Amino acid sequence: MQVGVTPEETAVLIRWKKRADNYVLVRMKAEAILYASRGVDVSIIAEMVERSVKTIREWLAGWRDSRMCSVLTGHAGNQNAAKLTRAQKEDLKAVLAQPPSQSGIDAEFWDVPAIRDEPDSQRFADADIHVTDSVSEQENNSSTIKTNRTMSNETFVAFATQKGGIGKSTVTALAANYLHNVKGHNVAVIDCDTPQHSIHGLRERETGLIGGSLYFKALACDHFRKIRKNAYPVIASDALNALDDAERMLAEEEVKPDIVFFDMPGTLKSNGVVKTLSQMDYIFAPMSADRFVVESTLQFAVMFRDNLMTTGQAKTKGLYLFWTMVDGREKNGLYDLYEDVIAEMGLPVLSTRLPDSKKFRRDLSEERKSVFRSTIFPMDASLLKGSGIREFSEEISRIIRPQ
Ligand SMILES: Nc1ncnc2c1ncn2[C@@H]1O[C@H](COP(=O)(O)OP(=O)(O)OP(=O)(O)O)[C@@H](O)[C@H]1O
Ligand SMILES: [Mg+2]
Repeated sequence: MQVGVTPEETAVLIRWKKRADNYVLVRMKAEAILYASRGVDVSIIAEMVERSVKTIREWLAGWRDSRMCSVLTGHAGNQNAAKLTRAQKEDLKAVLAQPPSQSGIDAEFWDVPAIRDEPDSQRFADADIHVTDSVSEQENNSSTIKTNRTMSNETFVAFATQKGGIGKSTVTALAANYLHNVKGHNVAVIDCDTPQHSIHGLRERETGLIGGSLYFKALACDHFRKIRKNAYPVIASDALNALDDAERMLAEEEVKPDIVFFDMPGTLKSNGVVKTLSQMDYIFAPMSADRFVVESTLQFAVMFRDNLMTTGQAKTKGLYLFWTMVDGREKNGLYDLYEDVIAEMGLPVLSTRLPDSKKFRRDLSEERKSVFRSTIFPMDASLLKGSGIREFSEEISRIIRPQ
């Protein structure tokens, strides 16, 4: 009774088989399926895993029916699966019933339980950043950097992680836009991502477009009159000077921002990044449905929390994770599984998940009058709908509760 197992599935099953925690049944099932995939006779498998032939046949039938799902769900000890609602389980089952390559999802992503296999110390030993080292190193490199903000009215916020290209700048621009133009907060953005300065660059392009178009000029005048304030300030800076630049901006601005967003570079290794992050009131770390992205975000979050927040070295009051670039094909249950694991690590995850959508790349342009990613105009209602940005901004606004 041979069963088909793809190389991707084999890799995950081998890891499941090796797990040293209390998921005995997962280990046994994984082992049995691996043997069966190599043509080992059912009676021999039964002997090796000390289960009846009937049970082995059931496991193999389960594998044919719902593949990885049959290994992961439906038995004692698998609390993740037990926590899923019936509908979520059905969703998960449908996706898991296909080999990963067919479901369009990286096999690594299915290997959820392995996240908690390795003790923290082991997992984070190889991390490519060392938070405490970075702080002292960066302290030495900068005499100007502020060490502790106290008694401030404004809230410092950064979207940060050690992964590049995950949408930090986009989310910063969109959340800042919504909170400033729709929600009525006064925001400012310190663009620390030198030399790209993507938000500052976007602002310059938009100012150029407005300068050269009567239509946009009229639109801008009308908008500023309506909200009774100007566009929010965007300051080009870098991680090393960000806090000084923010302080200068706060001293100079007539309308005092109540939320200051810091758009951080794609890597934590750049000078001053960890130090600047340690002065944030709130940090939101984006992650996408990719095992490596999740692992690297968790590494960052746990290290930052354990080395800087709990030791009082960081001013940070809250560190939240959130999902972005969420593909419709990746079913909710899978994210829930991950969130269970992340919750066990004591890290909060925002309930709003930002979708993967072309809208997020839509800047102001002459050809298209509808606006999404802008530092000046509010997003078009039709584009805002379904983008998750309203819900996302409302959620972070509730968390940071600016005065
Ligand atoms: N939710 C989304 N759906 C689809 N595309 C997105 C989404 N968010 C961001 N993008 C796109 O992904 C790309 C990277 O986004 P962005 O520059 O904001 O990432 P970043 O994390 O700031 O990158 P870096 O680390 O280089 O600063 C951009 O082309 C952006 O338009
Ligand atoms: Mg960026």
